[in-house]
Amino acid sequence: MVKEFNLRPAPQEGGRSSISDDATSMNRRQFMRYGFNTAAGILAASMGALGFATILMPGGGGSEGDSAVKYWAKGREDTAWYGSMHLQEMKKSDFVAEASNTKTGTSGASGVWQGLPVTVNYIPNSHNTGTPVVDNKPRFQTAEGYDTTGKYVGHFEDIVEKEPLIFPDSDIIMIFSRCPHLCCIPGWQLVDNTFTEDHWSAGGTDSGGTKLFCICHSSRFDPTLLEMNINRNRSNGQEFKYAGIRLTGGPAPVGLPLIPVIINGDIIEGNVLTIDGVSTLDWLTYCD
Ligand code: FES
Repeated sequence: MVKEFNLRPAPQEGGRSSISDDATSMNRRQFMRYGFNTAAGILAASMGALGFATILMPGGGGSEGDSAVKYWAKGREDTAWYGSMHLQEMKKSDFVAEASNTKTGTSGASGVWQGLPVTVNYIPNSHNTGTPVVDNKPRFQTAEGYDTTGKYVGHFEDIVEKEPLIFPDSDIIMIFSRCPHLCCIPGWQLVDNTFTEDHWSAGGTDSGGTKLFCICHSSRFDPTLLEMNINRNRSNGQEFKYAGIRLTGGPAPVGLPLIPVIINGDIIEGNVLTIDGVSTLDWLTYCD
């Protein structure tokens, strides 16, 4: 069931609309070991929890100190729009060009950054801001987040006030692709269904398409609905707040965390920010 959320007046600055409106630490070795491939994710779909181990593979497609995000199209060379660009650096212009082929004007791709599985989306937020909020005019929306018990955690804008760079004002958003359910890799349009179809509706509901979809047990995540929420490291139980995208359905307890990006020329690069003394890398530790 989709959660209700309260509205907050839409801030104009930065062109974003608003709906409702201790981290554990990841050490360098952990950071580098999360390689993945889509085939492993598909394998995990049939293996359930056991599949978790199969997707912890030696890192690929990124090296320490290399901040560029790379396409990951292994196994989808003939089907994904970026199939011929496997392990090439992602360029914003590629996403903009691909978006012109879609009804929603969005695009997305699976990728790898520093050995981590990621999904990158282009959302025409700056283009659609100022137009009526109607179907297939996607934009970023910021919202309140509630934990698994329904307790209010905070608002995405609270994090933006502390660190404005967390907001994806380049229209490019990067999302860590490890499902908070059992750590499979959602990816981008790995399957065709109503959740992955080229359709957008407002409000972070489970209706419409353009969702990140976890093929293991069907969790769905809306890359346009930005919220603050809370997750926990499953090894040591420590909880941490993070900025991420909303879970709209399925068994995952919460949504997926953002990885900040910067656009260097045309190249999409990952960024690491420190907010309240906590690194944004720490938001990625829930599968440790
Ligand atoms: S791992 Fe179960 S829904 Fe993603």
